[in-house]
Amino acid sequence: MRTDGTRSFGGISQALSSWLSLPPDTPRTKLSVRKRNPEYFLRTSRLGFREWNANDLPLALALWGDPEVSHFLGGPFSTEAVEQKLAAEIAHLRLHQIQYWPLFLLVNDEHVGCAGLRPYKPEEQIYEMGFHLRARYWGMGLATEAGEAVVNFAFENLGAKALFAGHHPQNVASKRVLEKLGFRFTHEEVYPPTGQMHPSYLLTR
Ligand SMILES: CC(C)(COP(=O)(O)OP(=O)(O)OC[C@H]1O[C@@H](n2cnc3c(N)ncnc32)[C@H](O)[C@@H]1OP(=O)(O)O)[C@@H](O)C(=O)NCCC(=O)NCCS
Repeated sequence: MRTDGTRSFGGISQALSSWLSLPPDTPRTKLSVRKRNPEYFLRTSRLGFREWNANDLPLALALWGDPEVSHFLGGPFSTEAVEQKLAAEIAHLRLHQIQYWPLFLLVNDEHVGCAGLRPYKPEEQIYEMGFHLRARYWGMGLATEAGEAVVNFAFENLGAKALFAGHHPQNVASKRVLEKLGFRFTHEEVYPPTGQMHPSYLLTR
């Protein structure tokens, strides 16, 4: 019990924790018309997506600078490496109008992580999809919820022909999220940041 009388689970208040637990039949990816933060260009029931900017280094460090988050991504990453990752996301947006957009809880605008798209085979309109969440938000269905929104955005707004995704061979949570989103295993390929063969998947419509 905290001094303000509320209980905290893993740093998340009881009220926020119960709000994050949606009933199973709640539509999670229906685009919301709530206008609370006008920066969000895409919303789900619980999450808002905006674009990275050069002032976001503290958020980027809290995400990719956490060795628990970067464990299967080729980390740990130094401050310089995180700066480069943020710069790369900003460049992807400028060059390709996509990125691994930063995600926030609609209820309080807290930073949750990122999810989105990168160029994979631009000439074939195939994008790579990924999601990186801060550890305190794992296990709440948020990656699946964000992933569903990204999938819909890719096919409906960008005219994607297919989405590619891969995961570290030991990253069972990521594998499970991809399966829940409907991705099908196709092959293994080297992921340069880890130097390992990553199971790789495709989603078509
Ligand atoms: C992978 C990651 C995105 C998952 O996010 P999340 O919000 O916890 O995922 P969800 O809650 O939507 O779903 C996770 C699923 O994996 C399952 N899962 C989690 N850990 C698991 C484990 N150790 N073994 C088996 N299944 C596991 C969950 O039970 C859930 O499946 P279910 O709904 O059928 O029960 C998150 O852990 C993360 O950001 N990790 C760090 C970055 C990363 O590795 N990203 C993936 C890059 S490919």
